[in-house]
Amino acid sequence: MTAQAHPLAAHAGRRRFLTLATAILGAVGTAYVIVPLVETLEPDASVKAAAATTVALVPIEPGMQVTVPWQDKPLIVVNRTPEMLATLPAVEPLLRDPSCAVPQQPPACRNRFRSLKPQWLVMVRVCTHLCCTPLYKPRKGSVGPRWLGGFHCPCHGSLYDLSGRVFKGVPAPRNMAIPVYHFSEDEKQITVTAMYPESKLC
Ligand code: FES
Repeated sequence: MTAQAHPLAAHAGRRRFLTLATAILGAVGTAYVIVPLVETLEPDASVKAAAATTVALVPIEPGMQVTVPWQDKPLIVVNRTPEMLATLPAVEPLLRDPSCAVPQQPPACRNRFRSLKPQWLVMVRVCTHLCCTPLYKPRKGSVGPRWLGGFHCPCHGSLYDLSGRVFKGVPAPRNMAIPVYHFSEDEKQITVTAMYPESKLC
């Protein structure tokens, strides 16, 4: 596929971005550092366990993320701060499916946070347009002047918020997929077990 300038982030496309972003009034007060963190994989001898991935949450500091390979897909876990969570309602008028009506997540994750616990985003980081891997862009203003944080797909310019919900006016048709997962009893790790059957990668 051919990489091209992001229509909403490129200079020539700023007007459209500004139109989309006009309603964004919140601000992210913290500059987040994107740091690839420790991966924790626990391969198991059984076929069932081999399909699962366990990720330790403790090393993931506020605002940071870890991406691990899972079933040949990049699985991202983000530790969202209260400031990041506060951006989610602010961008909803600009989103294609803010209420997550399309089943791109298990029913328990059909909420604004698209998660079992608001702090933690667990998502398959695959763009629903043509399966590129979007970039994690949590820093305010890092994609456009009113950008509040989210994901930017460099292939054809799709944009997602910090819950992986797609913006209107970009090529991607759906929110990114949330897999089936659960927390350990002590809530120090998550185990991802399967794609949600109704969800689509791209
Ligand atoms: S693959 Fe086309 S915008 Fe992401």
